[in-house]
This record gives sequence, structure tokens and C-alpha cells, in this order.
Amino acid sequence: MHKIIAIDGHSSTGKSSLSKQISKQLGFIHIDTGAMYRAITLFAMRHGFLENGEVDKMGLIEKLDEIDIKFDYNAATEKNEIILNGENVEKEIRTMEVSNNVSPIAKIDEVRTLLVKIQRALAQEDGIVMDGRDIGTVVFPDAPVKIFLTASAHVRAQRRYDELKAKGVDVTLEEVTANVNARDKMDSERANSPLKKAEDAVEVNNDDLNAEETVEAVLKIIKEKLG
Ligand code: DC
Repeated sequence: MHKIIAIDGHSSTGKSSLSKQISKQLGFIHIDTGAMYRAITLFAMRHGFLENGEVDKMGLIEKLDEIDIKFDYNAATEKNEIILNGENVEKEIRTMEVSNNVSPIAKIDEVRTLLVKIQRALAQEDGIVMDGRDIGTVVFPDAPVKIFLTASAHVRAQRRYDELKAKGVDVTLEEVTANVNARDKMDSERANSPLKKAEDAVEVNNDDLNAEETVEAVLKIIKEKLG
């Protein structure tokens, strides 16, 4: 078994920043699978398969074989950035519009099958930190380390709001809270690969931990598990 560290959990718990830090410290590759679902959502929006929250599921499924998703390491941001059909869309996938539309896309079976296949292929290399919702349950059920990151909804909404405000995005705390709650509900209740803690995952609640403390807590768990 490769050294795969599966990090799952709710939205806005800081999974991606945590995974980035951990992969940096361990010299592992970081794969943000949420970025992959966001990239397909952006593709669907650009091709007119998403109008007013309604998905043209059949239209999108027919076009899935035209989608190429890769990552490209950017030394300046120290981030594995997402490339959709040759275009770096790391910035475009982080808008509120994509966040609001990603859950209905992520519940389409064909979309999940495609992305899980890419995710497994990406982990051919040794040393991977992969974050998402179903990494420890579906993508790599045999991963030697599984973390389930969580925090209360209001703490997560406040963090996301602060992050968006810092980027100059014009949103209210109410809008962000509504998005966090709606995504929690859709991610946990969908039939295919719902967000849930794997039985053998270690749960980390970071309500009272800052980013550095979360990294420390998780690195400690990894060292115990990997020796
Ligand atoms: O981690 P994120 O917020 O960027 O993820 C965006 C959405 O993608 C999230 O609402 C749920 C979905 N997702 C998923 O269904 N499975 C994954 N492995 C990762 C993300």
C-alpha cells in the first residue's frame, strides 16, 4: 500500500490548507479533490448545462469524455493547481457561483466514477495527501491514515466569510452560512458516496484550534500511524 493520507470532512474546516501544509512537511504530493468537482461544475456552467440551479444531467454526461483534469505544481503558490482542458482554473473554481452549484454536480454517478478513476491513477506515486469527502470511505478504503476533520457550522461559516472578505468578495455572513448549511446537507444526504466518517478514521474537531495547531495535531496522528 502506498503512503496515502486520506483527509475527509465538512466544507470550510480548512482541509485543503491543512493537506497542503502536511504534504509540504512530509514531502508528499497534495491532491485537492474538491477542486476536481469544482472544475466539472465550471465546465457545466460554461457549456450551458447549469441554468438557475438546474442541471442538464444527460447533456453533461455526454460531454464527460471531453473533460481532461490534471494538476500542475505552482512553485510560487506552493500549490498543485487544477488544469481543466489545458487551462489553469484555480481561481475561477473558487467563486460563490461555483460553490453554490457544485453539490448537484457532485451527486451525479458518472461524474464521481470519472473523478474517482483519475484520483486512483494520481495515487500511483508514493506519498499522497488527498482531501475530499469520500477518500477514506470510497476512493482509498485501505489508506493507512484517515483523518475526519470537523468543526461546528457557525465556526466554519465565519472562517469562510473572513476568507472571502479578505479576497474582496462582496458577501454577507448570512449568505455564507446558508451555503455552508446547504452543502453539509447535500453532501451528507446524497445516495452516492455521502460524506461520512470512515469507521477507522480519526476525528479531529478544530473549533478551538488554529491552522498551525490543526497541522500539529494531524501530524502527530500521522506519525503514530505510519511510525
Ligand atoms: O472541498 P470543497 O468545498 O472544495 O468541495 C467542493 C464540493 O465538491 C463539495 O461541496 C462536495 C464535493 N466533493 C465531493 O463530493 N467529493 C469529494 N471527494 C470532494 C468534494
